[in-house]
Amino acid sequence: MVQASAPGKCILFGEHAVVYGQPAVAVAIDQRMSVTLELNDIWRIDGMRFNPGRHPHVEALKQRLWANGPPLSIKIIGTIPPASGLGSSAALSVAASAALRCAQGRQIKDDDWAEGWTAARPNNVYTGPWETVKGDSIELGAASVDVDECAILAHAVEASAQGGRASPLDSSACAHGGCIVLSDKIEPELNWLYSRKLNDVKWEVHSIKLPESIDDVWLVIGNTGIHAPTSEQVAKVALLLEETPERIREIETIGMISRRGISALMEGNMEGVGRAMSENHLLLRSLGVSCPELETLISAAAPSSLGVKLTGAGGGGCMIALTRNPKETSEAIELAGGRTLISKIAAQGMTVDLDEKSPIWNPFE
Ligand code: MEV
Repeated sequence: MVQASAPGKCILFGEHAVVYGQPAVAVAIDQRMSVTLELNDIWRIDGMRFNPGRHPHVEALKQRLWANGPPLSIKIIGTIPPASGLGSSAALSVAASAALRCAQGRQIKDDDWAEGWTAARPNNVYTGPWETVKGDSIELGAASVDVDECAILAHAVEASAQGGRASPLDSSACAHGGCIVLSDKIEPELNWLYSRKLNDVKWEVHSIKLPESIDDVWLVIGNTGIHAPTSEQVAKVALLLEETPERIREIETIGMISRRGISALMEGNMEGVGRAMSENHLLLRSLGVSCPELETLISAAAPSSLGVKLTGAGGGGCMIALTRNPKETSEAIELAGGRTLISKIAAQGMTVDLDEKSPIWNPFE
């Protein structure tokens, strides 16, 4: 049995604009998705017969990583509400990639992956530089699951689910955890991770080490309960830009606000972060991706918060409030009809939580 999990995410700045290459920031949240795999006589998900149409992300990963593999029983549990802008599908894709990879086993040899073997230790996730193999024994710290690879797989799967338009923001935040910044260029003051390209857009993916001053602020997430598929909201903005190309200026302004937000974040200036979030929201509203229910929750949370905005694709889903008074902010949102979650900023990325007797399928045998 193999089990892996990954966190959801909140976008602090730059959703939608990031699809057009503008900078954006996402942080991993405390809420997670967990995927457990076991060999089985037929394919099952959560005890039901596996229906690829109902689980397109799992089906896409199955095709890529487990095409000829034996049937599995897959269990998905988690605390991230689906289709609400909190990265539930990216977290699921990252956790499923990690679990499927771990279940095949891996070995690192001469800087290359070799399949069919795994390091049997509780959390064999590769995060550091390559470890070397000495003789037949692997050095401590080597791992069978690579965070970057799970981020790539999740991005590919998200892109196909979103009709080809998806930034790697959600997938990178859910894989790496912490705070992820995307930009159209390498930002020298940030920790550059890798480049990603999809269609004609290229993103440089970075992480930021956040200062300690984030320790006394929380994110209160308010869920409208309205499901709004990301693909529809992304298509709506694309249509707006096609019909009125000059509105690309709003997208560029979001990029400028994100830059201001990133500087404030790095300085530990949480008031500045909050202001940039609220300004970002006004532009998202003008692009048409807010809705009355989001506006109600945002107005309720604003008096007790440093900054408020919708998060993710919008059209429903969730808003976030950056606050030093999580109880007061959460109560205000609940009174206005929202359901709340509270998270610290920048949670842990993907982990392999259980690894019993992997590989459970060796593709080379
Ligand atoms: C969705 O969480 C964020 C969007 O910017 C889409 C994307 O980045 O792929 C709306």
